[in-house]
Amino acid sequence: MSAYQIIDHSYDVVVVGAGGAGLRATLGMGAAGLKTACVTKVFPTRSHTVAAQGGIGASLGNMAEDNWRWHMYDTVKGSDWLGDQDAIEYMCREAVPAVYELEHFGVPFSRTEDGRIYQRPFGGHMRNFGEAPVQRACAAADRTGHAILHTLYQQCLKHEATFFVEYFAIDLIMDPDGTCRGVVALNLDDGTLHRFRAHQTVLATGGYGRAYFSCTSAHTCTGDGHGLVTRAGLPLQDMEFVQFHPTGIYGSGCLITEGARGEGGYLTNSAGERFMERYAPNAKDLASRDVVSRAMTIEIREGRGVGKNSDHIHLHLEHLGAETLELRLPGISETAKIFAGVDVTREPIPVLPTVHYNMGGIPTNLQGEVLRPTAGEPDAVCPGLMAIGEAACVSVHGANRLGTNSLLDIVVFGRAAALRAAEVVKPGTPHRPLPKDAGDLAVSRLDRLRNASGGLTTQAIRLGMQQTMQRDAAVFRTQSSLAEGVSKIGEIYQSLADIKVTDRSLIWNSDLIEAFELENLLDCAKATITSAEARQESRGAHAREDFPDRDDVTWMKHSLAWVDETGKVTLGYRPVHTYTLTDEVEYIVPKARVY
Ligand code: FUM
Repeated sequence: MSAYQIIDHSYDVVVVGAGGAGLRATLGMGAAGLKTACVTKVFPTRSHTVAAQGGIGASLGNMAEDNWRWHMYDTVKGSDWLGDQDAIEYMCREAVPAVYELEHFGVPFSRTEDGRIYQRPFGGHMRNFGEAPVQRACAAADRTGHAILHTLYQQCLKHEATFFVEYFAIDLIMDPDGTCRGVVALNLDDGTLHRFRAHQTVLATGGYGRAYFSCTSAHTCTGDGHGLVTRAGLPLQDMEFVQFHPTGIYGSGCLITEGARGEGGYLTNSAGERFMERYAPNAKDLASRDVVSRAMTIEIREGRGVGKNSDHIHLHLEHLGAETLELRLPGISETAKIFAGVDVTREPIPVLPTVHYNMGGIPTNLQGEVLRPTAGEPDAVCPGLMAIGEAACVSVHGANRLGTNSLLDIVVFGRAAALRAAEVVKPGTPHRPLPKDAGDLAVSRLDRLRNASGGLTTQAIRLGMQQTMQRDAAVFRTQSSLAEGVSKIGEIYQSLADIKVTDRSLIWNSDLIEAFELENLLDCAKATITSAEARQESRGAHAREDFPDRDDVTWMKHSLAWVDETGKVTLGYRPVHTYTLTDEVEYIVPKARVY
């Protein structure tokens, strides 16, 4: 292949990424007897799932009556009817066994007085098809992701998966016939290149929050899987739908869980008014995230923000009392102290809508298989390639995700991918010889970036991208903001040709890795802003001031964006699944979305 030292590996399956989705898939594949490798750029328990706070959604009914059909209804409504109802049915039905499975794996959930899993209210979770709030978020205090991630990692060790820790995936290995044959990764510890062959390669690489200036996402959330698939000629789906979480800490962007409002916290403007009562008379502070983020933005725009620049909102928890705060919200109490200097038992937290989640991603079916849609076959599959978790778009979140459905998504579809892999891969099946040029693309990418000696630092290009996305693809969007964004991101993409990587070494070279990540982020930014400009309606998190209504006739369809190596984006569309998985539930007909 090249002058680099290359080490070859053969596995039945290779999972890229060790967050909740990657680990759930890894342990399921290991348990099924498949020789499984998990390749991850950070130590598994440092993956971004560790930051998930408020809970995992499942209609256990521990606090009051609940039903998976109500959960499904809320998820479809939350998605603003862009979610695929067959996949949503699957996820909501599977939620209950998935949470009990986590409990049996050892997740230390908080408990009710009588010892059952504690559940709290969350935005958009309602009983009886939207009637009144229900307590559906199964919580481990406000550290649910942390508890789940550590438990899943222990289960993976039990099933003897092999971990390749601090390996950065550079490119997929694709056959000329379009089958994925594995992945090439760089070992950051010693600079060796590794060619992993696999019958199934599973991308569980998380979201791309870091395309924005202010986000709740870890620095590692750089759309690495998204970049791998665009370079393999595959599309991304529904990228215009970027979720702003209502309560990022003003200034730092750190997450304050929606569980804080679930426990009774509320938002106020500069007049001390609980303004959500005007925007969502029924659900109030527990309306869906897009609704609350828009309401906060309007309050600030209309001069009712708090602080000396009237540019943020207050979140009150003082009335909950020190004991409840210590029991239910210890993590965010500490975060508020460190990042806002606020004692939550006495003062409100300054908050602002902050980029939190990508509803869009790599299109898959509900078994985790990556789609290669064509006009005639919108659900055609790319052989050998799977994607799960935030990297993927199944699509269960549609245009807006409900809080707690991300932890649910990762365990349900991580398991589904494992089940599918166990169906299609016989343990120990020999590998066909790789194409002669297998891995050449990865090597040339490595060579190009390592020797890049232009005039612009990675950091400068990244900052330009982040500021543009923050300004032009925000909570509210217009034709002029999006057109400006398309043009600016286009220029920034072209400036990649002038990138400078200062350190030529392969070992712990953060400059080089950040350049790889930047290329991935820019593919995501391009797909996002271009898809957003094209979609002339408002739906879920995509709020166009010039097209304020949802338009089901023209726009109830998934956007597809192919980004080529020059940065050119080609758009296409595929139908939303307007059918359920079984006859046990009926298709939920679109209607006005009010909370
Ligand atoms: O607010 C939160 O705890 C975040 C949860 C989620 O995004 O699902």
